Amino acid sequence: MNAKKIAGEKATELITEGMVVGLGTGSTAFWAVEKLGELVKNGLNIKGIPTSKSTEKLAIEMNIPLISFSDVNHIDITIDGADEISPTLDLIKGGGGALLREKIVAFASKKFVVVADESKYVNELGSFPLPVEITPFGFEATIREIQKFKCQTKIRKLEKNEPFITDNGNYILDCYFESIEDSSFLNTQLNLIPGVVENGLFVNMADQVIIGYNDGDVKVL
Ligand code: 5RP
Repeated sequence: MNAKKIAGEKATELITEGMVVGLGTGSTAFWAVEKLGELVKNGLNIKGIPTSKSTEKLAIEMNIPLISFSDVNHIDITIDGADEISPTLDLIKGGGGALLREKIVAFASKKFVVVADESKYVNELGSFPLPVEITPFGFEATIREIQKFKCQTKIRKLEKNEPFITDNGNYILDCYFESIEDSSFLNTQLNLIPGVVENGLFVNMADQVIIGYNDGDVKVL
């Protein structure tokens, strides 16, 4: 069975009439957005705030009415995926390069629900390279500062060796750590470096995690 679909669709059970919903990015959040489109078609009245241009496109295709930060003070709930989830529900996100908008939307949400398949649940964060969004200006200097945290780094590239450019016009630096022992410390320190726009550590942000299993089971943490 499709564990991502199971998790994504399960999360939509939390959505009720009139909610403002943050719409996540990636192949698991996709199923939540698609299901919401179906619910909207059947009469559910919600408004969505997308976390990326690709999700915005999907939401428009699904006829989900969209709203912007200028129209609302808060978001009721956000459903989004993750690349790694620790036992304390800290996350690595940004595998799809949307971490900045994802963090802004999650931070503005009353409830942040993470959906993932079972492979994303890990004992310790850090096997997945940590994505860090950095400005193109001065990127060499920014990279040197980031490397002081004892990681190998790689600018994310597209197939033609062109740098991947985020929805905000920046680069993604993938950082390979041996392990991340103190995600809270690393999150704060990385964001103090000029040139770092945001990093993919989501510490103390997730309120609920919904894990889908290949055998069809689903667990809510
Ligand atoms: C995008 C993300 C995604 O939520 C994360 O990469 C998980 O993606 P998927 O559900 O496709 O495994 O953070 O920036």
